Amino acid sequence: MAIYPGSFDPITNGHLSILRRALTIFDSVTIAVSANTMKNTLFTLEERMELIRESTKNDKKVFVDSFHGLLVDYVKRKETNVILRGMRALSDFEYEFQMSLMNRKLRRNIQTIFMMTDYKWLYTSSTIIKEAASYGGAIKGLVPDIVCQRLKEKYGYKS
Ligand code: PNS
Repeated sequence: MAIYPGSFDPITNGHLSILRRALTIFDSVTIAVSANTMKNTLFTLEERMELIRESTKNDKKVFVDSFHGLLVDYVKRKETNVILRGMRALSDFEYEFQMSLMNRKLRRNIQTIFMMTDYKWLYTSSTIIKEAASYGGAIKGLVPDIVCQRLKEKYGYKS
């Protein structure tokens, strides 16, 4: 079992693509939503988890959970040692490298597995999608339909 951690504010089709591909390697994946993210999130923890549940509801091999505190402690509680992260363009590399080394320093047997994103999602992120959505930009196709709907509600406009 792999743990796929993140802020997921909100989940995007890029995240879902990594998840689907990871399920061809791991027998199950637990999406672990960070409760104490340093970022100010648009969606509450409950909302973020609900959107993930809705977007993955037909997949019995996907579990949705949340965690407080250190990721490595959560991973240990789940009795695994595999962290899954998606990697986009070069800009992700430094942060991901730093985080995986810190996690390994904190717990020696942690293995972070990186999957390269599909080229379709190379330049998308929750942050850029939120920005476009906040100005009424068309984000259909970049996020699950339910997320598209919730973003429109949050930013207070119709289609
Ligand atoms: O989707 P994100 O925001 O890139 O995810 C980052 C996340 C939540 C995986 C990372 O910030 C994290 O693991 N936070 C929990 C605290 C922790 O263990 N940090 C890493 C070592 S200091």
